[in-house]
Amino acid sequence: MSRLKPFITERRLQARVRALGRAIQADYRNRDLVLVGILKGSFIFMADLARAIDLPLTCDFMRVSSYGSGTTSSGKIRMEFDLSHPIRGKDVLLVEDIVDTGWTLDHVLSELRKKKPSSLKLAALLHKPERERVKVPIDYLGFKIPDRFVVGYGLDFDGRYRNLRHLAVLDA
Ligand code: IMP
Ligand code: MG
Repeated sequence: MSRLKPFITERRLQARVRALGRAIQADYRNRDLVLVGILKGSFIFMADLARAIDLPLTCDFMRVSSYGSGTTSSGKIRMEFDLSHPIRGKDVLLVEDIVDTGWTLDHVLSELRKKKPSSLKLAALLHKPERERVKVPIDYLGFKIPDRFVVGYGLDFDGRYRNLRHLAVLDA
């Protein structure tokens, strides 16, 4: 039986996401901003972040998965579906739930670079620096967290817990 321990409250999450939104809004004024969310984990963060940015942005999504299951990624990344619109010449801000080993983002960033956006930056809600294998520059970071498996606010364990309004640590 797994147990959930409260980790980051809804209130802290909301305050941090609003602050990231303000910073992004200031940086992307008069630019052609496209938020690109990586499904599924980013969907709630993306929804709140998009509403915290008062600019005429557009949203797109891509789906990526790493082979294997459980609580660690295998490093082999597969694109399950790609963007619906070209990003050539656009200012792309990739939106991801968590940077763990960095393998997923490293792969996605290099794929997106091939599509020749005018700029490409990364917003990640969470980062586990202790687990980093590949250095991925995070331009807008919500929280650095220790090496614990967290769920809620879009993040899952085995497909569950994405709908929690706060973040919790899962003790398996
Ligand atoms: P990376 O390729 O190791 O950076 O893996 C990143 C992906 O692993 C994230 O997009 C999540 O889907 C998943 N992941 C890593 N750590 C956690 C966690 O603590 N909770 C839920 N999912 C996680
Ligand atoms: Mg993910």
